[in-house]
Amino acid sequence: MALVEVDAVWKTYPRRAGLRTEEHTVVEDVSLTIEPGETLGLVGESGSGKTTVARMILGLVAPSRGSVRVDGLDIARASRSELRRLRRQMQPVFQDPYAALNPRMKVLDIVTEPLAIHGIAKRPAFRAKAVELLRQVGLDESALGRHPHEFSGGQRQRINIARALALRPQLLILDEPVSALDVSVGAQIVNLLRSLQREHRLTYLFISHSMPLVRYLSTRIAVMERGRLVESGEAEALCAHPRQPYTQQLLAATPELPLPA
Ligand SMILES: Nc1ncnc2c1ncn2[C@@H]1O[C@H](COP(=O)(O)OP(=O)(O)OP(=O)(O)O)[C@@H](O)[C@H]1O
Ligand SMILES: [Mg+2]
Repeated sequence: MALVEVDAVWKTYPRRAGLRTEEHTVVEDVSLTIEPGETLGLVGESGSGKTTVARMILGLVAPSRGSVRVDGLDIARASRSELRRLRRQMQPVFQDPYAALNPRMKVLDIVTEPLAIHGIAKRPAFRAKAVELLRQVGLDESALGRHPHEFSGGQRQRINIARALALRPQLLILDEPVSALDVSVGAQIVNLLRSLQREHRLTYLFISHSMPLVRYLSTRIAVMERGRLVESGEAEALCAHPRQPYTQQLLAATPELPLPA
């Protein structure tokens, strides 16, 4: 069974048009699935609706039409306790690693906050848990007592990833996780994501405007253009034989990151 099933989903927002308000469609009839253990790459230019799809999967935005199922549960109909369980299973990592971190909190509290919120572990165990999480992302315990501003962008994104892993989720929703980083730092984060996926059998939704990056990481690729899914398929087949001119255009982009072969 697919871990995520997005079925004929639409999202419209009201928009002022003179004296009237009209519906503005930002996601139109999108269907996709994400299978356990795979990386689905979602690619498209700015404003194509990628983040809106991600937010609907996370249950942060309600679809105007259609349904989203995660692990067989319809997010819109799930009970509070079911939603709580789903929230543990999927964790987001966003583009701006600084905005996502509370500047007043220490790293120890940042990475263990999900454990506290979900009542998973007891306080005395937090320090050891935090050290373990930091180790997984290539940081050590010297980070525990420091605040986000004391770290570089790449290190901050590592802290975000550590926090996302705290609840042992199955699925990471990675929304442009390296777009705000310098190229060499971004490449390191990409490789960290690859090894974490192998180690923890994680499933990824990897969102980016960069086709070379999506191609490097994905099992399958879905291409969005102006709210619609215009093409999808196995990553290598889709890149070898793109059907849509839009996909061809995205493929012609030069890699922004030094990606290993
Ligand atoms: N809350 C909202 N109210 C009204 N319009 C919105 C809202 N959220 C998103 N939109 C619009 O929906 C469209 C798609 O936005 P979205 O953020 O999903 O695109 P994206 O593909 O993630 O773009 P980017 O690559 O820039 O992150 C945009 O035109 C955006 O302005
Ligand atoms: Mg976006």
